[in-house]
Amino acid sequence: MTAETEDMAQHPSSMSEFSLAPDRSRFTFQNNWFEWHRLAWEELMSPWVGKDVQILEVGAFEGASTTWMLDNIMSNPKSTMVVVDTFEGGMEHQTGPAEYQLASLEKRFWANVSKCKEMHKLTVKKTRSEEALMVLRQESAVFDIIYIDASHVAVDVLHDTVLCWRMLAVGGYLVFDDWRWKGYNENCYNPRVAIIAFLQCVPQELKIVRETEGQIWATKVPCRIQPTKNPDPDLYYWDEDDNPFASLWWKEAPQALLDANGESS
Ligand SMILES: C[S@@+](CC[C@H](N)C(=O)[O-])C[C@H]1O[C@@H](n2cnc3c(N)ncnc32)[C@H](O)[C@@H]1O
Repeated sequence: MTAETEDMAQHPSSMSEFSLAPDRSRFTFQNNWFEWHRLAWEELMSPWVGKDVQILEVGAFEGASTTWMLDNIMSNPKSTMVVVDTFEGGMEHQTGPAEYQLASLEKRFWANVSKCKEMHKLTVKKTRSEEALMVLRQESAVFDIIYIDASHVAVDVLHDTVLCWRMLAVGGYLVFDDWRWKGYNENCYNPRVAIIAFLQCVPQELKIVRETEGQIWATKVPCRIQPTKNPDPDLYYWDEDDNPFASLWWKEAPQALLDANGESS
């Protein structure tokens, strides 16, 4: 990515208008969640249009977001896109409405992306994200845009996010879907806890670009705070009383959750 692109990624609103491919009528989607986000994507993705951009999408379903990116930001001959999906649906789809039609999900994805002119720039990894992302990382892959929308189970979101973060270029975008989704009764399963935990770990090299309809857009910036070593060994350890999580989280909360579910022994 060029320095120019790096700068634009941090100032998306400064971009001039770009030409979109708004006609989505040739695609067939049973669940077009992407429509909720399309307007925000049109604005926030504008800096990348026509640039040499490497995209990673983790969780594609029927290809609604995939086709939008292929149609709108992939025209540069050097651009590429990797999609990771099991095409088995997430945990929340297994008992969901019949219209998820998981048996034909992969076929529907291919039928949709096949209609895109830039489809030859797409590589699909049909496997679990935890495996595909580790392989990409071992291959030293680097991406400018990463869209995280696969498993919605918090620990999976956290795992996907950490691996993706290490593959995101400075100036690149990380987009989290379903930041406000709480499809599980137990908060420990919902994406929000993972996203918050991650954001707490990287304020030194992350800037929030925007919160849109349930999505968080972040960009990676050069590290602003280097770790400094505490010179006083007496202060190396948290005081138990100063730890706000001590009673709230790692002692009481898990037990309370098990008790509520009638699972404690
Ligand atoms: C919410 S959908 C993605 C929607 C899509 N990004 C869109 O905007 O239309 C989640 C997708 O992630 C996939 N998925 C769920 N858990 C996964 C995992 N652990 N590894 C890979 N893919 C997974 C599912 O098969 C499903 O297609």
